[in-house]
Amino acid sequence: MAKQAADDQKRSAAQGPSAAAHHNAHPLTNGAHLAIFGLSHAYRKADGKVLKDVSLEVQPGEIVALIGRSGSGKSTLLHMMAGLLQPSAGEVVIDGDRVRKPSPRWVMMFQAPSLYPWMTVAQNAALGLRFTRRGREAQTRVPEVLELVELSEFADRNVQDLSGGQQQRVALARSLAPRPDLLLLDEPFSALDVFTRRALQRDVRAIAQQLGLTLVLVTHDVSEAALMADRAIVLASGPGRIAGEVDLRNQDQAQEGVRDVNSADFKRAQTRLTDLYAKVVGADAASFSGHQDDSSEKETV
Ligand SMILES: Nc1ncnc2c1ncn2[C@@H]1O[C@H](COP(=O)(O)OP(=O)(O)OP(=O)(O)O)[C@@H](O)[C@H]1O
Ligand SMILES: [Mg+2]
Repeated sequence: MAKQAADDQKRSAAQGPSAAAHHNAHPLTNGAHLAIFGLSHAYRKADGKVLKDVSLEVQPGEIVALIGRSGSGKSTLLHMMAGLLQPSAGEVVIDGDRVRKPSPRWVMMFQAPSLYPWMTVAQNAALGLRFTRRGREAQTRVPEVLELVELSEFADRNVQDLSGGQQQRVALARSLAPRPDLLLLDEPFSALDVFTRRALQRDVRAIAQQLGLTLVLVTHDVSEAALMADRAIVLASGPGRIAGEVDLRNQDQAQEGVRDVNSADFKRAQTRLTDLYAKVVGADAASFSGHQDDSSEKETV
């Protein structure tokens, strides 16, 4: 593992301008370009496909939500983007490199914050850097990321004394510390109450935009997708495949990109996504009950 991290570091040091940006004091990063080609996956051959022929392109700095029912393969797809799982067929390409293993350039954040309870907020936030042998950067970088997630005043607090939402902010700070180009979120807010969740959804969108990060977010919450994403991709189940997508950027003409769940634009975006999602889930249900509808054309709303 340590060797792998060292290799990654060497590789990123040997790269061009985007790698150079990682090592100067400027807090901005350039988001990754993500391309997925013909991805299919079966965990065990006997069990059949979990994902079938998924192709997708995400532009640098774009925020994309993957939405689908439980079991539609969202986490499987995200794990493959993160290099934590190799697909049975197809490939994931980030900034021109085929993804074969995890890297500090593409970081995944999970539903549970998984912090070390005996460490402080700052120590937990520094872990991503320590694991990639960049511990020396922690002294300057940790205060920066704690400020981003609005936890500066909690730096020396024990993480056990924090609320669930604050703990998730620490996990976010830890993910951001190594300056990834791509952040992959697997339902990171689902355990939080609605007010905490809304605040984090807004803040994470704002932080991703501020840093120019590319963000892929898995959710089964339509309002979360509509509030956070530029574009939502709807997955159908059995096997998981892309059924259609909804552009959500209609909301951003108003007030400099600050989205408001009470605005007419948000409600319009949410309705379009709800309609497509309901249609896809309805088609899934029909095929489960034997009314196989094979008109699996992709839809854009
Ligand atoms: N390690 C594994 N081994 C075998 N099958 C698995 C494994 N992980 C997931 N699966 C199966 O693959 C399918 C897709 O699972 P996945 O976790 O990707 O779905 P999901 O869309 O993330 O669901 P949820 O919304 O419940 O998190 C499911 O049928 C699941 O049972
Ligand atoms: Mg999942």
